[in-house]
Amino acid sequence: NGKKSLFSGMQATGTLQLGNYLGALRNWVEFEDEYECFYCVVDMHSITVRQNPAELRKKARALLTLYIAAGLDPEKNCIYYQSHVPAHAELSWILNCFTYMGELSRMTQYKDKAAKHAENINAGLFTYPVLMAADILLFQSDIVPVGDDQKQHIELTRDIAQRFNNLYGEVFTIPEPYIKKTGARIMSLQEPTKKMSKSDENPNASIFLLDDTDTIIRKFKKAVTDSDNEIRHSKDKPGISNLIEIYTIASGKTIAETEKEFEGKGYGEFKMAVGEAVAAMLKPIQDRFEELSKDKAYIDQIIKNNGEKAQYFANKTLRKVQKKVGF
Ligand code: ADP
Ligand code: NA
Repeated sequence: NGKKSLFSGMQATGTLQLGNYLGALRNWVEFEDEYECFYCVVDMHSITVRQNPAELRKKARALLTLYIAAGLDPEKNCIYYQSHVPAHAELSWILNCFTYMGELSRMTQYKDKAAKHAENINAGLFTYPVLMAADILLFQSDIVPVGDDQKQHIELTRDIAQRFNNLYGEVFTIPEPYIKKTGARIMSLQEPTKKMSKSDENPNASIFLLDDTDTIIRKFKKAVTDSDNEIRHSKDKPGISNLIEIYTIASGKTIAETEKEFEGKGYGEFKMAVGEAVAAMLKPIQDRFEELSKDKAYIDQIIKNNGEKAQYFANKTLRKVQKKVGF
């Protein structure tokens, strides 16, 4: 229909954390009129590290429900499971044959994960970025709204697409990353030089989207900062700067307004305000999540209908690619 298209996704490996929301999900709602949007629960990516099957199934469903609870209208956005659309795996295999070992070895996420899961450095962990490239290219995506940590993977996606196009003509749209300035890199509350992640071992490092108000406030109170007690955004104050950034998004105020609001006040008071603002921002999402979770038939129907829609679009690209390579 001539509309531009968009793909993004998240792993079903655990409850979403605040960085996933502020860096990605929160921004997704603005695209539904202008773009054909595909938001995937990337459960095939999740099994690159060991999962408990029953847990994974539960988390995948919770993630899809959270997409809707966060504001994505399932009539306007195609919200579906990666594992329900075989074209992801098929295109991924083909693209594997157009990706070099050297390129994959340079991926920083692979290096991090390999170090973290030294007992299970499987081929899927290594070729993860190729599956991600297939995800994006299947839908001829013009843009990919993600957090800052995904830049390198999108760069590789572009290189693979360009390489394929150079050989076979204009098959793939070359996607652009869409990374917002604010929220693209939310840091751990315990180690503010490291990004917040759902798989962090320290339970106080991340705010989870379904944390209750008391938990949220308690975690912010424990957040690691410096000791000068001045609410000022600065490179050499990563802890407090991270909190200021979170506060500006949750409250709608600017950095300057925030610094002014808390002038002469201490960290304790500021952390309390951040906690309250974040809890207030998440509360409506949590309520909606509760409500949606009760309606099993509704969610089942979304999974089915959107899965079919995704298949239809994905198969169009896959057929083109198959012809090009000689199948
Ligand atoms: P995680 O690293 O928590 O497992 P995913 O790899 O599933 O998250 O990423 C889902 C989306 O959330 C991606 O677009 C990613 O860039 C974004 N994201 C993850 N962590 C952060 C963060 N700390 N700050 C901003 N965005 C983030
Ligand atoms: Na990530």
